[in-house]
Amino acid sequence: MRNLEACRGGRRRAASAAAVMLAVACAVDPSGAAAAEAGKVRVGLMLPYTGTYAALGHAITNGFKLAVSERGEKLGGRGVEYFTVDDESDPAKAPENATKLVKRDRVDVLVGTVHSGVALGMAKVARETNTLMVDPNAGADELTGALCAPNIFRTSFSNWQPAFPMGKVAADMGHKTAVTFTWKYPAGDESVGGFKDGFTKAGGKVLKDLTVPFPNVEFQALLTELASLKPDCVYAFFAGGGALKFIKDYAAAGLNTRVKLYGPGFLTDGVYREAGAAAEGLKTTLHYADDLDTPLNKKFRADFKQRTGREADVYAVQGYDTGTFLLQGLDAVKGDVGADKALVKAWEGLTIDSPRGVFKLSPSHDPIQDIYLRQVTGGQEKLLGVAHKALADPGTGCKMT
Ligand code: PHB
Repeated sequence: MRNLEACRGGRRRAASAAAVMLAVACAVDPSGAAAAEAGKVRVGLMLPYTGTYAALGHAITNGFKLAVSERGEKLGGRGVEYFTVDDESDPAKAPENATKLVKRDRVDVLVGTVHSGVALGMAKVARETNTLMVDPNAGADELTGALCAPNIFRTSFSNWQPAFPMGKVAADMGHKTAVTFTWKYPAGDESVGGFKDGFTKAGGKVLKDLTVPFPNVEFQALLTELASLKPDCVYAFFAGGGALKFIKDYAAAGLNTRVKLYGPGFLTDGVYREAGAAAEGLKTTLHYADDLDTPLNKKFRADFKQRTGREADVYAVQGYDTGTFLLQGLDAVKGDVGADKALVKAWEGLTIDSPRGVFKLSPSHDPIQDIYLRQVTGGQEKLLGVAHKALADPGTGCKMT
């Protein structure tokens, strides 16, 4: 894995014009600015800053930077240099974007991303170049399943994780039939799969899966079809701008008073305030709730609001936790990102004190965490209880080698 070469010591990195210039600068000024510059940890942020997931990318970035700033802008005692790429939630551009960060910017660690398809492309580059990668959102089950790797970690969730408990919750509410509605891409498919897993195990039946291509938000025709199917409830996976449009369209079609709508918390997080009355009453399951009554959550929310002028949401939390994850891991190896095995071991053993609650990672590098049931009530998202305690993704097919 990657390590920076300071003027003194450290491992070699590939010869390049920059390395030659650094050597010259060090010869002139062996303890000066060039050494300090070379000593920075290079963090590659590959996230969506445009499109339907733009707000998610910004919240993750802000959360990450908040955690680092709380530690005096240092990771493992070293300064931090950010390299940022807008991945546009476009899987086709993922290999090129990730390669740019690894080869051109020579980042020590890749942080990203939101979209599961993009994350899978990014992980391929991380595996091939043996670069450390920390995923602060994308839930692609395979990332910590069949495609797991020692250098790939996730601080967020697997798509199955918040979805599975919702199936049981819906069945426990007395619903016998459901229709699912999502974008046709890995996150939508896997989230629906998790819901079905929980719902059918609890005796429910899914009548039909409705999908639109990502990031299409033309829901009208399928909402008409949905109404004609007359299910007891609907499970929908959408997030960001698409979630906002879906909640509004669902209510505008008059469905919100006739067919209960459920989803993973991505359906409402970051958008329920703007959705207003259309979001009222929605119940969702997620590994975070705004009003978790812990000192850390309260402090985090206040600090995030002060820094950004925005309310924190699950994405801000995941960014913040990714910052904490890097901080604690790099502290353990005294900032030596090249100490591959020790860093991986440190990360695997960490207990992260998060605004969501304390969590550790599973053997496949995915958080083992409580999944909460929340409801939008009176314009606020309220915690109703724990839908599933300490839920671990099964990590199907993961063989760490
Ligand atoms: C995903 O693509 O994995 C994804 C995107 C947005 C979310 C959750 C999951 O809110």
